[in-house]
Amino acid sequence: ETVGWTAGDARKGVYSHFMRKEIDEQPTSLRQTIEGRIGDEAALDAFPPGALADVETVVFVACGTSYHAAMYGSVLLRRRGIFATAMRANEFAHDPTPLSDRTLVVAVTQSGETADTLASLRVANASPARTLAVTNVIGSSAAREADDAVFIRAGPEIGVAATKTFSSQVATLSLFANRLECDGAGIGTALGREEIGDRDTAVGLDASADRDTAANSDRSADSDAAEGTIAARRATDGGTVSDAMRALPDDVATVVADDGAARLAERYTDADSYFFIGRGVGYPVALEGALKFKEITYEHAEGFAAGELKHGPLALVTPSTVVVAVFTGRDDERTLHNVREAQSRGAPIVGVGPESATEVRDAVDQYLSFPDTDPELAGILANVHLQLLAYHAAEIRDRAIDKPRNLAKSVTVE
Ligand code: AGP
Repeated sequence: ETVGWTAGDARKGVYSHFMRKEIDEQPTSLRQTIEGRIGDEAALDAFPPGALADVETVVFVACGTSYHAAMYGSVLLRRRGIFATAMRANEFAHDPTPLSDRTLVVAVTQSGETADTLASLRVANASPARTLAVTNVIGSSAAREADDAVFIRAGPEIGVAATKTFSSQVATLSLFANRLECDGAGIGTALGREEIGDRDTAVGLDASADRDTAANSDRSADSDAAEGTIAARRATDGGTVSDAMRALPDDVATVVADDGAARLAERYTDADSYFFIGRGVGYPVALEGALKFKEITYEHAEGFAAGELKHGPLALVTPSTVVVAVFTGRDDERTLHNVREAQSRGAPIVGVGPESATEVRDAVDQYLSFPDTDPELAGILANVHLQLLAYHAAEIRDRAIDKPRNLAKSVTVE
């Protein structure tokens, strides 16, 4: 891997803020991220096919935006039948999960220098677990200290608010999830796989995705059998996750060009609070949307799992609470139900979801749409709208967008 950045990449040029420049750069940065890495036979940096066959469980450690990308990655792995969890690095470092030589600890960090994340990595390095850094910076402490490194290739990010690196982190973790699945990683018992298969069917996953439990029950399963399983699981109406990944840079370009958030930001300037809700991969995106919004607008914003509203936060919802709801094309009816809970308390609703989701579009007050894609990648597109929403809301309030108060780009103290 070479650096591949020029000094010009780190200049603002015609843009008034690095954040806006970096949002707009995402089609290019994503192209760099995925280049040469798509497909079951493609290597992912240190990981040629088969290299992750021994992994049983995955523990992600990260902070802030990187933590949200890690959470997103953990959802993708769990959907592939691999036990995965994401922990905030500042918690894990002093209260780690049990770790074995079949555990892969993945530190997700843009800078590779975040002290909390490095502290977690050191805890994992001192255990029998294998460690991996997913980072943007070649030669960073995380890249050097972990057993292996995968680079997200997003190019330099100057704005304190992380934008293009989130998209590249999630795209990388999606490719990584595919690599683990192809390698047959996971707990690997026939019972475990069968139960997971049943549960997928119960929540409405493609029922025709007939899992080849025999292939997964054997770590040395021959690749033909494993391929059958994966192909079946990935088969969706319109194509595969790989096809959707290839289209992702252009889909992001469509969202950036639309910039629907520019039309919305003026509308809701006098709200008391901004709530972001989502489920599945939409949940980490809701958390990320809220983080970006609070970080640069200084307004009160919170992210919630959509189904959690009724367990408490709903008490706060009034006509002065703007609810931003993330839809991915999977389980949307359930999220719509949660939207109605907020709507009946008078909250204005901004929906962010696929173009073809007409029922959602009709139910909400404002709709930011993105091109239809695989629901696993839809969160990336929704998040670009949320980046733009935060950006325009901060611009209206005349905030120091690239250097918000009290924050630093890289937090090198614990
Ligand atoms: C996000 O906008 C922030 N700048 C912050 O949450 C950041 O993601 C966090 O400090 C982690 O940084 P890292 O990815 O460099 O480890």
